[in-house]
This record gives sequence, C-alpha cells and structure tokens, in this order.
Amino acid sequence: MSYKKLLTLVAPLLVLTFFAPGTGSAQESANCLACHTSMKGRLKTAGGTIIELNIDSEKFQASVHGSLSCTDCHMRFTDNPHATPGAAVPAEILATSSKISAKHTIDPVAAAACSKCHKETYEKVLNSIHGKNIAEKHQTDGAFCLDCHGSPHYIVPVKNPDSKMSRKNQIETCGRCHEDKKILEKYNLQENVIPSFIESFHGRKLHLGHTKVPVCTSCHNYHDIKAKDDPSSPVFGNNRIETCGKCHKGANEKFIPAITHRPPGPIPHYTEKGLIVLLLSTFAFIIVHVLLEAFSDIRDSVFRKGRKE
Ligand code: HEC
Ligand code: HEC
Ligand code: HEC
Ligand code: HEC
Ligand code: HEC
Ligand code: HEC
Ligand code: HEC
Repeated sequence: MSYKKLLTLVAPLLVLTFFAPGTGSAQESANCLACHTSMKGRLKTAGGTIIELNIDSEKFQASVHGSLSCTDCHMRFTDNPHATPGAAVPAEILATSSKISAKHTIDPVAAAACSKCHKETYEKVLNSIHGKNIAEKHQTDGAFCLDCHGSPHYIVPVKNPDSKMSRKNQIETCGRCHEDKKILEKYNLQENVIPSFIESFHGRKLHLGHTKVPVCTSCHNYHDIKAKDDPSSPVFGNNRIETCGKCHKGANEKFIPAITHRPPGPIPHYTEKGLIVLLLSTFAFIIVHVLLEAFSDIRDSVFRKGRKE
C-alpha cells in the first residue's frame, strides 16, 4: 500500500481523533490505537527506518505495561499524535535519548522514557559493557532493554516462559549476538560461549528441565554485565567464589575453575579422542569378524555342494 493510499484510509480516523474528547490515559491510548490497530504492515519513514504500524491492543493490554498510556513513553506525541519534539519532554529524558539515538532511530524519546520509572535499572544498563557500547562507543551492537525483553509493547515478566529472558529462551537470546561471527570478530570475543555452555554439566541439566542450574545471567548478572577482565565482574578471578558459592556451598579456589567456556585442556581432549578411536576400532573389528565368518560359511557350503556332485 502506498503512503498516500494509507493516508486516505486513515484521514477519517484523523478527523475523528481531533474531535474525540481527549481526557485520561485510556482515552489517549484509544486515540492512538484508533489508527494503530487498524493499520497493517510495515512502512519506511521519512528518516529511512522501517516501522511496524500495527499494535495488537489485546496483547498490549495483557503486557506488564497494559495500564500505561502510549504517551507515557511516546512523550513527544502529547496532544498532537505526530508532532515534532516539543517542550513537553523533560530535559533529563531528552539528554538520555540523545545518548541512545544511534540504536533507537524510530523514537529515541520513547526508549529513554523507561528511565522515568526504572531509573536505577536504566543507569546500570547504561554503565554495563552492553550500554557503554551504545552510549560511549556510539555503536548499535550492544544489548539494550528491547534486545533482552522483546517488543516494547508486549513485554511480559521474565518469569513468564514466553519472555526472551526466561530459562527456556535466554540461551538463544544471548546467542543471537554471541554466536554472530561478525560481532565476535569485531569485538574479539570468544567463539564458543554458547556451545560450551550447552555441553557443560549445567547446560545438559538445563536441557533436561532442571530448575536450579544456572543460565547465563546467573553467573554474569543481567543489567550490569561487565567484561570478564573487569574487577567488578562476577566471573573475574576470585569473585567466582561468591558467584559459584550462591549455589555450591563451600566453593573455593580449587572448585571455581571447574566450569569455564574455555576448550578443555589437552589431557581430557586426547582422552576423549582416544576413547572414540578405541570404540570405533572395536566396532570395526566386530564387523570384519562377522563378515569373514559369513564369507567362510558361504565358501564352505559352496565347496561342500561341489564335492557332493
Ligand atoms: C490518524 C492516524 C494516526 C493516529 C491517531 C496516530 N498515529 Fe502514529 N502513525 C500513523 C501513521 C500513518 C504512521 C506512519 C507515518 C510516518 O510517520 O512516517 C505512524 C507512525 C507512528 C510511529 C513511528 C514513528 C514515527 O514518528 O513515524 C509512532 C511511534 C507512532 N505512530 C505513535 C503514535 C502515538 C503514540 C499515537 C497517539 C498519541 C499515534 N501514533 C496516533 C498514524 C497515526
Ligand atoms: C513502555 C513504553 C511504550 C509504550 C507504553 C508504548 N510504546 Fe510504542 N514504542 C516504544 C519504544 C521504545 C519503541 C521503539 C523506539 C525505537 O526503537 O526508536 C516504540 C515504537 C512504536 C512504534 C513504531 C513501530 C515499531 O517498529 O515497533 C509505534 C507505531 C508505536 N510505538 C506506537 C505505540 C502506541 C500506539 C502505543 C499505545 C498503545 C505505544 N506505542 C505504547 C515504547 C512504548
Ligand atoms: C542483557 C539482558 C538485559 C538487558 C539489556 C536488560 N534487561 Fe531487564 N532483566 C533481564 C533479566 C535476565 C531480568 C530478570 C532477572 C531475575 O530476576 O533473575 C531482568 C529484569 C528486569 C526487571 C524486573 C525487576 C528486576 O530488576 O529484576 C525490569 C523492570 C527490567 N528488567 C527492566 C529493564 C530495562 C528498563 C532495561 C533497559 C534500560 C533492561 N531491563 C535491560 C535482562 C536484561
Ligand atoms: C510510566 C512508568 C513506566 C515506564 C515509562 C516503563 N515502565 Fe516498565 N514497568 C512499569 C511498571 C509499573 C511495571 C510493573 C508491572 C507489574 O508488576 O505488573 C513495569 C514492568 C516492567 C518489566 C517487567 C519485568 C518483570 O520481569 O517483572 C520490564 C522488563 C519493563 N517494565 C521494562 C520497561 C522498558 C524496557 C521500558 C521502556 C521502553 C519501560 N519498562 C517503561 C512502569 C513503567
Ligand atoms: C557457571 C557460570 C557461567 C555461566 C552459566 C555462563 N558463563 Fe560466561 N563466563 C563464565 C566465566 C567464569 C567466564 C570467564 C572465563 C572464561 O572465558 O571461561 C565467562 C566468560 C564469558 C564471556 C567472555 C568471553 C570472552 O570473549 O572473553 C562471554 C561473552 C560470556 N561468558 C557469555 C556467556 C553466555 C552468553 C552464557 C549463557 C549461554 C554464559 N556466559 C554462561 C561463567 C559462566
Ligand atoms: C544485541 C546483541 C547482544 C545481546 C542480545 C547480548 N550481548 Fe553480550 N555483548 C554484545 C556485544 C556487542 C559485546 C561487546 C561490547 C563491547 O566490547 O563494546 C558484548 C559483551 C558481553 C560480555 C563481555 C565480554 C568480555 O569482553 O568479557 C558478556 C559477559 C556478555 N556480553 C554477556 C551477555 C549475556 C549473558 C547476554 C544475554 C543475557 C548477552 N550478552 C546478550 C552483544 C550482545
Ligand atoms: C544458579 C546456581 C548455580 C551456579 C551459580 C553455579 N552452579 Fe554449578 N551446579 C548447580 C546445580 C543445581 C548443579 C547440579 C547438581 C546435581 O544435579 O547434582 C551444578 C553442578 C555443577 C558441577 C557438577 C558436579 C557437581 O559438583 O555437582 C560442577 C563441576 C559445577 N556445578 C561447577 C560450578 C562452577 C565452577 C560454578 C561457578 C563458575 C557454578 N557451578 C555455578 C548450580 C549452580
């Protein structure tokens, strides 16, 4: 659908919107939703970003923010649906929005508005290795709120199995970036954090549905994730005594290296390879043995037949 056709379609709604009594947050959301539940599909904005026009109002209402008004986050849209930035947005939110505008090109004010209600969390994320990647290095690769919690309109509690951060989905969500070759190369990151976790004792138990084994954020924290060589990281040096100790009472310096992402050293490596070679050669021996026996049976019977005639 062309942009013009779309506007013709929504023009009557626009009129309706302006004459509707605009009081209260539910009414305000209803105004926005009058257009945004009836429009379908994606559109390229003047700024060149692709946006999803449709908002599923039932799913929005069922989300953790179901009671909020659209303009609690889309603050610059107060009064007039799509006005340009106005005085209504507090200076603090505007300052935050400019820090993250490289990543949030559709409505950086909305993405900064989370800090109004989740102030402490927001500070932590901005100071994490992921947040600094965006706010200080001005890249777009680091994880921010929506990379971990999903679409801003349909956020569900982390305890809900559908959350991208649930025990069921977390490994895959972190893996979207931590298995991405381009990101690994660009930041010189270790390649195997996902496969090594999946193959670890913890990962195997998680796969079987164990509810007490750690996921990524049990060892790395979540909002304040740091580089492994940052002394404030929970996986830095002896900080691991406390980190592993949350679940392994009496964890000490000898215990903490038992699980890492690093490939196993040469001894376990060659032991494993050796066992595989031994197993395969045993099978090969059995197969050759059975074949030879079958061959000798056939030969014997043919030979005997020949003698009888
Ligand atoms: C009259 C119909 C209509 C109403 C009412 C409306 N929108 Fe939109 N909205 C649109 C259209 C059409 C687009 C895409 C056009 C564009 O901006 O390029 C859009 C785009 C957006 C975008 C993407 C960013 C942007 O600036 O393009 C956001 C965010 C948005 N609307 C939020 C809201 C909010 C919040 C409200 C209520 C305060 C609202 N809309 C009310 C029709 C409407
Ligand atoms: C909890 C905060 C929050 C609330 C509440 C909220 N939005 Fe959004 N919305 C966002 C954020 C954040 C973005 C993404 C901004 C970006 O990446 O630049 C967004 C994006 C959008 C977009 C662009 C479409 C896309 O690609 O996702 C539209 C349209 C939109 N919102 C409309 C609405 C409407 C209509 C409502 C009310 C029913 C609403 N929003 C409520 C935070 C919110
Ligand atoms: C790297 C992934 C990640 C990022 C980025 C992230 N979160 Fe979270 N968030 C989590 C996880 C995991 C939990 C659940 C932690 C737990 O309780 O075990 C959580 C929990 C929460 C909670 C529930 C209360 C709490 O602190 O436990 C809120 C609110 C929240 N996040 C908001 C945000 C906001 C706002 C942002 C952006 C500024 C954000 N999150 C960025 C992973 C993330
Ligand atoms: C106007 C205040 C307000 C704004 C703005 C806001 N939130 Fe929330 N958020 C809340 C409230 C209140 C809850 C708790 C709802 C509940 O407990 O049922 C919540 C819950 C959450 C949770 C649930 C975590 C969990 O596991 O329970 C996450 C994640 C979250 N918000 C992220 C965000 C993000 C990301 C943004 C910005 C796009 C944002 N919030 C903007 C008020 C807000
Ligand atoms: C049992 C605790 C534990 C769990 C669970 C865990 N990690 Fe780690 N992680 C560590 C330790 C310890 C290090 C530092 C030493 C190393 O590389 O093994 C580390 C290092 C890292 C690094 C830095 C690698 C580099 O390039 O230097 C990343 C990235 C990482 N982990 C991501 C993850 C992800 C993603 C998950 C979930 C799939 C995860 N971790 C699960 C303990 C854990
Ligand atoms: C949107 C992509 C993305 C997602 C999703 C993501 N990360 Fe990252 N992560 C990055 C990037 C990019 C870096 C490197 C940032 C830099 O160095 O500037 C990084 C760095 C890290 C580091 C520090 C590595 C080091 O140098 O020691 C850890 C630990 C980490 N992430 C863990 C996680 C965990 C755990 C999750 C899931 C809860 C996760 N990440 C989700 C992109 C992501
Ligand atoms: C969130 C809790 C949690 C954290 C954090 C955690 N583990 Fe575990 N770990 C478990 C559980 C649960 C088991 C499985 C116990 C069982 O079923 O026998 C386990 C099993 C193990 C095992 C298998 C042998 C054994 O002792 O049962 C090793 C080794 C191990 N963890 C090492 C570590 C190390 C090293 C760390 C820190 C880097 C760590 N774990 C962090 C919960 C945790």
